[in-house]
Amino acid sequence: MIKDTILDALNKQIKLEGDSSQLYLAMASWAEVKGLEGTANFLYSHADEERMHMLKLIKFINERGGKAFVPQIEEPKQDFTTLKEVFTAILNHECFVSESINEIVGLTLEERDYSTHNFLQWYVSEQIEEEKLARNILDKLEMIGSDKGGLYLFDRDIVTLNTDTTAE
Ligand SMILES: [Fe+2]
Ligand SMILES: [Fe+2]
Repeated sequence: MIKDTILDALNKQIKLEGDSSQLYLAMASWAEVKGLEGTANFLYSHADEERMHMLKLIKFINERGGKAFVPQIEEPKQDFTTLKEVFTAILNHECFVSESINEIVGLTLEERDYSTHNFLQWYVSEQIEEEKLARNILDKLEMIGSDKGGLYLFDRDIVTLNTDTTAE
């Protein structure tokens, strides 16, 4: 049986993953309208990944005898000016998510809940990958600057960066 403290923390994480999915979805829609088709596809598929992160938590809680809480959807930011702004927001958001995961990992040790601790290792690895990916993309955007040809190639090639090695 899962302890209440852990249950609360995991339920909060469900909301954070759901909010992440909405954030990526809004960014995907923005990119699509701007004609950045490759970037839009990358972001749409990332929105799906975040939803999968949320589902994984829901199932884990329910399997351990808890009751997952399905939260209300928050409205994410809808408008952006540049791709750099989008990916800076992504990096900041992913760093925030990593901190949240780390907090819960710390809590599982305090509560001696080793099965949740073990379960969360997947999220720890995933966050390392996601932060790395966002930094990598920002470095590329920094290099491109406002060069239109560079942005065209970025949008064409971003699909090759979406290699999710940790998805199950
Ligand atoms: Fe996530
Ligand atoms: Fe993420």
